This record gives sequence, C-alpha cells and structure tokens, in this order.
Amino acid sequence: MSKKILILPGDGIGPEIVGEAVKVIEALQNSHGLDVEIEHGLLGGCAYDAEGDPYPQSTQQKAAAADAILLGAVGGPKWEAIEREMRPEKGLLRIRADLNLFANLRPAMLYPELAAASSLKPELVAGLDIVIVRELTGGIYFGQPRGIEGEGDARLGYNTMRYRVDEIERIARAGFETAMRRGKKLCSVDKANVLEVSELWRETVTRIGGEYPEVELSHMYVDNAAMQLVRSPKQFDVIVTGNLFGDILSDIAAMLTGSIGMLPSASLNEQGKGMYEPVHGSAPDIAGSGKANPLATILSLAMLLRHSLERGDLAGKIEAAVGQVLANGLRTADIAAAGESTVNTSEMGAAVVAALQ
Ligand code: IPM
Ligand code: MG
Repeated sequence: MSKKILILPGDGIGPEIVGEAVKVIEALQNSHGLDVEIEHGLLGGCAYDAEGDPYPQSTQQKAAAADAILLGAVGGPKWEAIEREMRPEKGLLRIRADLNLFANLRPAMLYPELAAASSLKPELVAGLDIVIVRELTGGIYFGQPRGIEGEGDARLGYNTMRYRVDEIERIARAGFETAMRRGKKLCSVDKANVLEVSELWRETVTRIGGEYPEVELSHMYVDNAAMQLVRSPKQFDVIVTGNLFGDILSDIAAMLTGSIGMLPSASLNEQGKGMYEPVHGSAPDIAGSGKANPLATILSLAMLLRHSLERGDLAGKIEAAVGQVLANGLRTADIAAAGESTVNTSEMGAAVVAALQ
C-alpha cells in the first residue's frame, strides 16, 4: 500500500519551497521506486482566506488520513490584525495539538562549506551537530488558565506553565532515544532554581535516565544554556527541554549555523506520524522573488522519509545530494558569502534533483 503524504504549502515563501521538495518526491518516485501518494491542503493564512479557518475541517480530515505531512510555513503581515484565534500561527498550534505531535526534533548542523556564514568564529562552530528535542504540545503554550481580564490599570494578562509527569516522561524518552542514536549525551534544560514545574521536570527526567544507563545525562538552567550555546556550542549533543525554552533555544541553535534556511525539523506523535517543516518562517518580504532557499524543506522531506516512512536509505540520498550541491558551490542568497554568485529557488531545487540521479 502506498503511503500518503499531505503537503501543506502555507503562506509566504511556503508554496515556492514546498514546490521544490515535491520535485524531489517526484524524482524519487520515478527513479527510486518511492511509493507515495501526494495530497495538498491548506493551513495558515491561505486557509483562513479560503475557508475562514487557519486549520479548516478539510485539512483536519486530510491530516488524519495522512501518514506524514510536509509543511512550508505559515503567517504574514496580512493576517496580523485579525483576532488571535484566527491567526495563521493558531492553525499551526492546533494541528500540532490535534495530531498530538509532542516531540519536536530540531537538528542544527553546520555544513563545512558554510562555516563562514555563522556569526560565531568558525572554530567554535565548525563541525557543529546538535539536536534540540522540544516538547511541543504542552507547557505554557497550552496551559490553562490563560487570558486577559479586568479593566483599565487592573487589566491582567496571564499564562500557565504546567507539565504532567506523563508528558515529561514521554518527551524525556524521546530525548534519550535521540541521544542513543547519536553521541549518547543528553542535556535537559529547565529553570528548576525558580519554577516548580521545572523541579518536577528535572526529577522526572532524572528518573527516566535510569532506563538509559548508556546516556550521559546533565541538567542546565535555561539562562545558562542560552549562554553556553553561544559560548561553546559543540559541548552539546542532544538537548531536551519544554515548549517555550525550546522555542527560544532552537532559534539560537539555528543562528549558530548562520543559515536558518538550511534547517529542517520533525514533529512526531507516539505512533511515528509526523509533520515536517523548515525551521525558518514564511519570509513574506521575499515571497515570490525566487530568493528563498528550498534546502530546509528538502531536508525536512528527508526527515519525513526516515522517521515516518521507514526510508532512511532515501533520506540519506537526499542529504548526500544536498551536501553535493553545496560542495559544487551552489548558493541561494541567504547562504552566499559576499561576492559569491547565487542561484534562485528553483535552480537550487533542480540541482538537488540532478544530484540525486
Ligand atoms: C516555531 C514558531 C512557532 C512557535 C510560532 C509560529 C507559533 O516560532 O515553530 O518555533 O512558537 O512554536
Ligand atoms: Mg520559534
């Protein structure tokens, strides 16, 4: 039975970059016997425009039926003024929650050819290869109570950071499992010197660590982790942390590589169903100009093949093809050094397809 991939191009540069990933899927169907069916759906601002809901029923049904989802990016200034519940970002948060995509894997690795693109000294980042495992369906993003109430000077806004033990256990296991496949070092990041929720987090991660005696577990406060990531990032292998801290630390980690246009991500549920998306946003300022870098989306497709379709062999081929085009000197504007010539979105996609053959 062929597997179903749901494609959600989203907003801004989303359709352009996803279009290049679809070319890669088609090439793999033609030349490597990849057996998948592709369907398209709407998420984000485009879904709000078409159906009045950033995560409409039609997409909910397609998402439930899919084996894996490839997402471009959502959001843009066009939808900033509409009520919070209808904003594109809300569509993203709802699909994460709806599919129970609690484990967000955000690798940050630096291709040797791009070491000069980092704002850190090349020797600090050369060979960088870390993964942030971010809890994605709990914590302060979803905690109740939340709201804004009261009048005038007494208006009060509040959110709640909360984690149940079983939520911490499953993300801790995702962290340990990721570490087992890599360098066997896991750093759990929290704010246990101030927050009770973090106290429970640390206690639980430590207990789950008993199941993984081979993994070297450490704990770090989030402020220190932010500092260590820019001071000496190669000390890390895998970082596991909650939703908000992971949001912030993964942007730092992305920037270490100097090329947020290169970084893929996977959001997985307990059954291995996943949504895969580039870490970068919808970049409305360059949408339609052909400047967008499709490599993060193409690398997200590689993660999709590995984690949801059990085609690690094809994932490896895609990753090798991306390495090849970079080694050949192809650069989109975001990863070009001063004076280097650039290719556009579809030229980069075509080069990856050619390198696959
Ligand atoms: C991310 C983004 C989202 C988040 C936004 C767009 C809701 O920043 O995926 O990191 O905060 O999770
Ligand atoms: Mg973010």
